Amino acid sequence: MNFKEDVRQVFEYHNLSKHGFQFYAPGPGYLDWANQPNPFRKYGVEEIALELVQDAEPLGYDSTLRLGQAPLSTISHRSVSQLFQDSLGLSVWKSYLDSTWALRMNASSGNLHPTEGYLISGKVEGMSSTPIVAHYAPREHVLEIRLKFSDELWNSLIQPFPEGSFFIALTSIHWREAWKYGERAFRYCHHDVGHAIAAIAIAASQLGWQVSLLDQPGTFELEALLGLGSQRGPDNEHADCLLVVVPNKQLENKLALIPTDIFHEFSKLHFEGTPNRLSPEHVHWPWVEKMGGMTKRSFQSLPPWEKFVPRVGSNLPWENDPSLRKIIHQRRSAVAMDGQTWMELPTFYRLIENLLPSKRRVPFQVLSWPPLVHFLMFVHRVKGLDAGYYFLVRNGNDLGELKDSCHREFTWEKPSHCPSELPFFCLLKADVRETARAVSCGQEIAADGCFSLGMITKFEEPIQKYGPWFYPQLYWECGLVGQVLYLESEANGFRSTGIGCFFDDPVHQVLGLKSLNYQSLYHFTVGISVEDSQIQTLPPYDSSWRSKKGYGRG
Ligand SMILES: Cc1cc2nc3c(=O)[nH]c(=O)nc-3n(C[C@H](O)[C@H](O)[C@H](O)COP(=O)(O)O)c2cc1C
Repeated sequence: MNFKEDVRQVFEYHNLSKHGFQFYAPGPGYLDWANQPNPFRKYGVEEIALELVQDAEPLGYDSTLRLGQAPLSTISHRSVSQLFQDSLGLSVWKSYLDSTWALRMNASSGNLHPTEGYLISGKVEGMSSTPIVAHYAPREHVLEIRLKFSDELWNSLIQPFPEGSFFIALTSIHWREAWKYGERAFRYCHHDVGHAIAAIAIAASQLGWQVSLLDQPGTFELEALLGLGSQRGPDNEHADCLLVVVPNKQLENKLALIPTDIFHEFSKLHFEGTPNRLSPEHVHWPWVEKMGGMTKRSFQSLPPWEKFVPRVGSNLPWENDPSLRKIIHQRRSAVAMDGQTWMELPTFYRLIENLLPSKRRVPFQVLSWPPLVHFLMFVHRVKGLDAGYYFLVRNGNDLGELKDSCHREFTWEKPSHCPSELPFFCLLKADVRETARAVSCGQEIAADGCFSLGMITKFEEPIQKYGPWFYPQLYWECGLVGQVLYLESEANGFRSTGIGCFFDDPVHQVLGLKSLNYQSLYHFTVGISVEDSQIQTLPPYDSSWRSKKGYGRG
């Protein structure tokens, strides 16, 4: 294999995993319930019971997400417990007839939750007297200790980072998504990684901690650090990324690198536990498997990007700032939208402004590359804004190229009351509800909200520049922005839903995009949700639900 051929294959995968009006990406076509993968991985090893933090200091949603506003917590059993509870933990159980399923703080396509989380830390008072690598089990809210290792090795691993830092790593089990979605599943797994990254950074912000996605290690080094090297077979975990959590506010822009030989040390150690089997049988999805191998990254740091100056953010502090923790815990996907409610214009502008990358706003500073994701917006019901296609340019460096790539007849006009600093443009005024619904695989939620959107992402250039490993990272960025949109909607009294099922090229045709320079990678809808009163909501950690199987809704 060579670089050019690998890149070509990524584009081939991307095209074959597209949905269209006439066809869907290769998938199972039905749900094989007997083989539904267990969404809860367990290693069956010594556990650390985490605390369910009920009485955390209430902190404002907006004030906390403005970087550096929360008081600094020390690393302790309680603060680590809260970090996991508020990021990857369960939010509720749902029940209907004889079926129950758990929802989590982080959204996941089909509620299938392919993402697994790990803590890699030094000693933590009241939690562990040695450094550990531990798997987080959200159902029980426990850490499973897979490795205890020496202080000396920990000191060399953490040495490049500020005192008191620790790591969280994420992995994906592709089979969990492939079971339902076939070849398109690889995309969804990586959206979910992005949701999880944002959920962790946002939860950490409540404790005064900053999170940063490390450019290195490569996949091989991360597998060694997590003891995944010997995992084989369809249920195996793919090492995705390593986040450093820094319990101070002075995180350097460019973090130092961890020497490779330290990861090599971990490959010599014995990790405890055997991963549980998730399904009795598996279906082989050749491209999902191939992409898992082809997008592994080598040990390197990202080469420099063109200059991007993140905005500082101009929004005024909120008058009635809701509790961030309450918003995190109440986040849900809307299953249906009311098709009636209008959003006020100031709410709309505040909401989209908070989706712009900003140096001062969590979690946008987590990613190490400049923003590649823009929004094509289908505006339906925003008071004072004509219905139509709009564009939010999240990185001004792309404006010229975007205009050149889209239909000539688009006006790119700033709406009359739009704040001057907001890079928001009207392309065409029209009732676009039917198009929004149609291109979102016919899902009514895309038309019945106040607006929906497609994440138009710079595509060909970054993959050609850096290689196949960058393909998943585009989805991480989409997922990260998506998790913010979920919370921002809740905080403004609305609800949203991520939409992974959309017709790719018909969306591109709406804009007039003809090449792979930009691709729509994720859709969203925002509106007022209509709840299904037949579905019962139950507490996340009530012991009477512990014995139930938490398999998801589609
Ligand atoms: C990547 C991704 C794609 C999704 N695609 C759809 C979709 O096409 N249609 C839909 O109704 N919900 C979609 N969802 C919402 C999920 O079904 C929802 O997150 C999941 O059921 C868990 O529920 P919760 O978000 O309330 O925790 C998607 C979510 C994610 C993260």
